[in-house]
Amino acid sequence: MSTSAGQVPRQGEEQRRGGFSSRRVFILAAIGSAVGLGNIWRFPYVAYENGGGAFLVPYLVALLTAGIPFLLLDYALGHRHRGSAPLSFARLRRGTEALGWWQVAICAVIAVYYAAVIAWALRYTFFSVDQAWGADPEGFFAGDFLQVNDVAAEGLTTDVVAGVLWPLAVVWVAILLIMVMGVQRGIGATSVVFIPVLVAAFAVLVVQALLLPGAGAGLDALFSPDWGALDDASVWGAAFGQIFFSLSVGFGVMITYASYVRRREDMVGSGLVVGFANSGFELLAGIGVFAALGFLAQASGGAVGDVAAGGIGLAFIAFPAIISEAPAGAFIGVLFFGSLVFAGITSLVSVLEVVISAVRDKVDTGRRTATLVVVVPAALVSLALFSTTSGLHVLDVLDHFANQYGILLIAVVSMLVVAWVVRALPALAEHLSVDGRPRVGTAWRLLIAVVAPAALTLVLVLSLLDDLRKPYGEYPDWLLNGFGWAMVVALPVVGLLLARLPWRSGTHLDGVPPEHAAPGTAAAPTGPATTTTTTTTTTEEQR
Ligand code: PHE
Repeated sequence: MSTSAGQVPRQGEEQRRGGFSSRRVFILAAIGSAVGLGNIWRFPYVAYENGGGAFLVPYLVALLTAGIPFLLLDYALGHRHRGSAPLSFARLRRGTEALGWWQVAICAVIAVYYAAVIAWALRYTFFSVDQAWGADPEGFFAGDFLQVNDVAAEGLTTDVVAGVLWPLAVVWVAILLIMVMGVQRGIGATSVVFIPVLVAAFAVLVVQALLLPGAGAGLDALFSPDWGALDDASVWGAAFGQIFFSLSVGFGVMITYASYVRRREDMVGSGLVVGFANSGFELLAGIGVFAALGFLAQASGGAVGDVAAGGIGLAFIAFPAIISEAPAGAFIGVLFFGSLVFAGITSLVSVLEVVISAVRDKVDTGRRTATLVVVVPAALVSLALFSTTSGLHVLDVLDHFANQYGILLIAVVSMLVVAWVVRALPALAEHLSVDGRPRVGTAWRLLIAVVAPAALTLVLVLSLLDDLRKPYGEYPDWLLNGFGWAMVVALPVVGLLLARLPWRSGTHLDGVPPEHAAPGTAAAPTGPATTTTTTTTTTEEQR
């Protein structure tokens, strides 16, 4: 493969895009993306709702049959084709580029609301110090803090809640600074610092929680298996949904991050480390959160089931109650909400990097410009939607639909397209196995082509039936239609439209791009790594 006659690469593509300096940094960044709000507040409650201890069976099955195989598919796509989600798909087969943009669109939606939850956690880290919620954490969260309006009667409002506006602005400024710094010095460096701090803080939190009176009852509630739940298809659905969200697979995140890894690295081993680290953290979070809930149940004289509220409620209502009751409550609160902030930031940067790297691959622009073009509008939309009194409703609806349909749908479609339309699995398996251990082969291909898509389709159909039978959250129709269904339909349409725009000149679009050649020489042929690889990925152009 050679460049067209007379064309001398101005600068190597790998150098222009940037990259992680080592496999260790990549693994930490990938764990940073995977470990997020989903691990800390979502997993414990989902596990509890779906059979407690017995949930671990479908959970592990989902991890091994769909989560890790799909993670490896993302890694193979990004690492082999060396591009953002749209560029990697375009290189796989030109007609599939829209799949990448569909993922970019999902990430844009997630980014705007994910930031708001981090902003709340930031505020609550400080509230923990003097237990600002007083005697009524529930009333405080919706009333004093978010000042939630009656959306059915008043619709969306422009009444700004200053107490949310400021922390949200702080989150976006921090994110902007990290993203401008680039892949290694921004995302990589943040993950290298945040992830060890997060693990240490969370370990202390879990030990504290286990020492509280009543902790054992909480663990009993989480782990006492309800084996009957295994007959229930929706329990299996919940397990697959949790694994996909939690591992950040199907969003383009893992494709993008893998494209920043040097050629000739073991991507299979990395995937196993990331997958098991994420689930390990999730289990730890389940133990910590339920030990604390056991304490709260004992203190309030109720059952653990009565104090365990779902999702947002668990973090922002039950935890403040625990903090008020527990010895060293302020300490527990700062650890808990601080962990949410740290875990959330490293996930938010990964979602935004999907968008930024796609823009940079598509248009000839530097890191700084692309970052501003992506982050500033995202921040403004985020501030406009979520710092008002109607923000919580919009967030709840976006979160439900983006997760339930956006992600599962793109996951099924992309697996089927790669496996059955492009028929790329043998080549991707081969790519993973050249340097990866263990080797991936027939079993992996079977999981991606048949087992995982079948399981996910089942999950999708089940949740669709649920939503049709009982509209989500008793919200007014216009809210569900506008921010729910219309958004889900708009995402692939946006994907198709963006795929029609032309690529920046000089983009290599067929298959695997040639390696970067030093300026002034012809491009090197595709093949085993040459010495240039070690120097190319650490420096990134900052225009
Ligand atoms: N995996 C993250 C979590 O568990 C969420 C996330 C989803 C991050 C998609 C990036 C992309 O919270």
